[in-house]
Amino acid sequence: MSSAALDELKPGEARFPGPSTREVILSEGDDIPPALVEECYEFLGDEEIPYHRYTSRDFFQQEVEKMWPKVWQWACRVEHIPEVGDNYVYDVGPYSILVVRHGEGPEDIKAYHNSCLHRGTQLKPSHSTGNSPKLRCPFHGWEWNLDGTVNEIPCRWDFPKVTDAEFGLPEVKVGLWGGFIFINMDPDCERLEDYLGPMMEHFAGRWDVSKRYVALHVQKTLPANWKACLEAFIEAYHSLETHYQSKETSGSLFAQYDVFTDKVNRFVHTRGYPTPEYRALQTEEELLKKIAPHLAGTPIPEGKSARHVVANHLRETMSEQYGVDLSIYSDSEMLDSIEYTLFPNMFLFPGVGLPMVYRFRPNGMDPDSAIFDLLFLRPLADGAEAPEAPEPFKVGIAQSYRDAPGIDPVLGAIYDQDTGNLEMQQRGYKAALSAGVKTGQTLGNYQEVRIRRMHMTLDQYLNA
Ligand code: FES
Ligand SMILES: [Fe+2]
Repeated sequence: MSSAALDELKPGEARFPGPSTREVILSEGDDIPPALVEECYEFLGDEEIPYHRYTSRDFFQQEVEKMWPKVWQWACRVEHIPEVGDNYVYDVGPYSILVVRHGEGPEDIKAYHNSCLHRGTQLKPSHSTGNSPKLRCPFHGWEWNLDGTVNEIPCRWDFPKVTDAEFGLPEVKVGLWGGFIFINMDPDCERLEDYLGPMMEHFAGRWDVSKRYVALHVQKTLPANWKACLEAFIEAYHSLETHYQSKETSGSLFAQYDVFTDKVNRFVHTRGYPTPEYRALQTEEELLKKIAPHLAGTPIPEGKSARHVVANHLRETMSEQYGVDLSIYSDSEMLDSIEYTLFPNMFLFPGVGLPMVYRFRPNGMDPDSAIFDLLFLRPLADGAEAPEAPEPFKVGIAQSYRDAPGIDPVLGAIYDQDTGNLEMQQRGYKAALSAGVKTGQTLGNYQEVRIRRMHMTLDQYLNA
């Protein structure tokens, strides 16, 4: 687009030239879920995002005091705690939450602050899972029932002020959705259903992620602020440089960005449908060889694309592998990167071929370090129970994601590229601030709007 043509557009109106993601998806079939092709964007301003939000201890402390204890965040999946007495410790910043199954009913789940009411010891270690019929402190043996009521206090004669009524474990709110167990430390928080907003409707029916199970869980500590880490995954603009190898096959430059509410936003970008420039440079047969080398030479039906052949192959092989009927899913749902974000730190992909969940959280009280959880959710056969969720495979800071057993090596290499920039970015913020040369990030109006929305919502909490 010429700069004269660009001048006529209002900020946020410019788009990559060529067909939109929505047009590509709609051209491929009739049974496209309306949510997938819904567009929802508005210009949110172009102020810089100050670097100190990523580097300052004071800012980090504000988040710890005013944001983390007020938001819904997923702690684990129901298949992490299938049996009565199962527990799971979710840690975020200084907080430690003990999630417990106390009964056999699907909703018999409670969460407590993970700190003994005697002298504060954690009842269960950070980041641990386990099963125990009671919640017993390892220090002096104060013990609670799974429902949080007092069971036993050794030498109770010495604690006349301790009453059962006042010494039940302090609870944290729990919400269940899509097979995820959410917690919220604010007793007066809004309902989880309201917080999820459009995700309730979008993920109903064919995107019901409660009918999936955790097939892979990888965890890595990343050397940057939790927000910088999250922002490395929230736009596809970086693909041009960071994932340079995908430019001939990916539609990341004409990705669609949607901001549905203050908490929920999304991008959608095609795989196997590159920009017009790269479409013109290759035949569909050549494209097929690049996106699925094992399918090279497969005949492409008249009027169909390489991407359709790959989607079809996936539908057939995955239907058989997982014992489910995937025939209802469109090519886009089989292949594309469809990424929803729920504020502050949950990424959820309803697609079948790219079925990930990401979570980014501060690592203790360190503003320069974050914990990244990467999970793959696979389809659960009709009527089948989810197998117990695997322990996370921990990838060392300098280790490749490709070392995680079961990860697709091509995706592993992409995650390596994504996280390779982070330490340099975190240092770059500090270098620029120290030198006084620049004080904030300059964002693209469209492609980086989700970053801006995240900071605006964070401010709602910090200024409340
Ligand atoms: S600190 Fe828990 S029993 Fe003493
Ligand atoms: Fe990336």
